[in-house]
Amino acid sequence: MKTRIGVLTSGGDCPGLNAVLRGVVLAAEKLGWEVIGFKDGFEGLLPPGDYCILDRKSTDGIMALGGTMIGTTNRGHFIAKIGAGDRAVVAENVIADAKKVLVDLNVKALIIVGGDGSMVTALQLQEAGINCIGVPKTIDNDLEATAMTFGFDSAVDVVMDALDRLHTTATSHKRVMVVEVMGRHAGWIALHGGIAGGADVILIPEIPFDYDRIAAAVKARDAAGDLGTLVVVAEGAKPRDGQQIKRETHGGEFKLGGIGEIVAGEIAKRTGKETRACVLGHLQRGGAPTTLDRILGTRFGVKAVQLANEGHFGSMVSYQNYQVRHVPIADAVNRLRLVPPNGEMVQTARDVDISFGD
Ligand code: F6P
Repeated sequence: MKTRIGVLTSGGDCPGLNAVLRGVVLAAEKLGWEVIGFKDGFEGLLPPGDYCILDRKSTDGIMALGGTMIGTTNRGHFIAKIGAGDRAVVAENVIADAKKVLVDLNVKALIIVGGDGSMVTALQLQEAGINCIGVPKTIDNDLEATAMTFGFDSAVDVVMDALDRLHTTATSHKRVMVVEVMGRHAGWIALHGGIAGGADVILIPEIPFDYDRIAAAVKARDAAGDLGTLVVVAEGAKPRDGQQIKRETHGGEFKLGGIGEIVAGEIAKRTGKETRACVLGHLQRGGAPTTLDRILGTRFGVKAVQLANEGHFGSMVSYQNYQVRHVPIADAVNRLRLVPPNGEMVQTARDVDISFGD
């Protein structure tokens, strides 16, 4: 009988997931292994098991597609992380049921493609005796122990494209355009997307802002004869004396969003300028992956199979110094990787006249 491994994609989807699945399948088939894809994240592990066999044929041509061919969820029975850092525990009976499904299907190892919450669950499964390998995924790029996650570059590309488009309309109308982007508690998408798209103001959670400072930056552009102003605001950004804006809360978990409209209103009030807000939302998670995400996803998928073959269970694929390596999953879940407020990227942005509203 062939050696079998399982793979699942968990948490919010992002471009590049299918590249990972294809990489896993092709590398596993080279070893003579069979790959089972569990559907809709960890939920596919619930008895009797919801899965499909992934092979060369079924994964052919999927790399260019966004989303994940086996589905995903950021809800359900396996949520092990809520809010900004609080841990929940996956119920013991749920873990035991999942283990039985894997044993019955003769699955030797489980490759878990997900973000920080999924890695916390992976750790719990590993502790329960299930051989797990993690693959870091998230558009937010906020996972510790890896310099980059796949999905991030594609999301940044969407922000850059949006800013390019908004630049012309902002200029034509001499308006301020405020663009709200994703990223949860990290400002990576706003920072990279903002620099690439020529933003004038970037607001990120790591640097609390002051509305008067933002208004001053807009007025300074006006005084210099600059026609429009582009403001990128991360969904997790907050004023110095204020709170993050939550658009939805349930079961201890919350979704961020809504700060863009508020920032636009405050700018209009303080500057008298016509100001419009635009929320990019899930556009940032859709569409074809960029070249970088296709390559990174493929490398991550192949590395995960190598790690399973070498018995490095409990480890996560990690990107460091242009090399794909591995680290203990535990190293990735202790805290979020945030933008260093005094780091080189922020300084570069400041040097090209970008204001952080501070
Ligand atoms: O973690 C990825 C992410 O897209 C965040 O940037 C965002 O806050 C969240 O997921 C949105 O989640 P949902 O798809 O449940 O609205």
